Amino acid sequence: MRFTVLTLFPDMIRQGLSTSILGRAEERGFISFDIRNIRDYTTERHGHVDDAPYGGGAGMLMQADPILRCYRSATADLPKAPRVIYVTPQGRQFTQADAKMFAAEETLLILCGHYEGVDERALELLGAEPYSIGDYVLTGGELPAMVMVDAISRMVPGVLSNQESGEIESFEGNLLEYPQYTRPEVYEGLCVPPVLLSGDHKKVAQWRREQALLRTRERRPDLFAKVELNKADRKFLQAQAERSADES
Ligand code: ADE
Repeated sequence: MRFTVLTLFPDMIRQGLSTSILGRAEERGFISFDIRNIRDYTTERHGHVDDAPYGGGAGMLMQADPILRCYRSATADLPKAPRVIYVTPQGRQFTQADAKMFAAEETLLILCGHYEGVDERALELLGAEPYSIGDYVLTGGELPAMVMVDAISRMVPGVLSNQESGEIESFEGNLLEYPQYTRPEVYEGLCVPPVLLSGDHKKVAQWRREQALLRTRERRPDLFAKVELNKADRKFLQAQAERSADES
């Protein structure tokens, strides 16, 4: 899968995506990057890519023309126009389901905004789909773009090794992951839950499911409401509720 990123800070993106699992995936050819500096496409004498907004107001806007030129150059050799994402706090929330969906694309183009935003006509001409990574405002679109590239890449076949592969992980079936422990068995007086040392795989699996249910209910009631509970889950939660009623 190819990620084309249009940005004013290409070094930031290159650095952020070249290490660890994504660096390895790029070396092995599972993903590739085409990182373009929008400033290279301005025809303005002083290299400006921004201007004041019509109608007044604070801040500067990225102009449409350098973005369109950059886009046309980046997509000239592609067999079909890629989906275009514009990262912005005004976008719809990017989720794990979106990561899976975008991983099926051959090429994905991400436009990073800066300053106070982008001339709306650039977004219209590119058919850009606005996405946000959360309800907070960052100084630019580079970090959100990297977050999305990372989440999408993990879903591209071959990027994760079997060991890293995230079949049983947070958000699968709307459940958060259960707590995990590694050596030593006792650390600063805290013991590993005995069931994990029992060697009984069925019991371990059941304990993990129960812990995932409890954790999700406590930390993310919004996700918990979407979990499909099986018979054993309901029995466990019922017993749990009775126990806490007895305690209070
Ligand atoms: N640009 C600035 N803040 C952002 C956010 N939260 N998500 C996506 N793009 C952004």
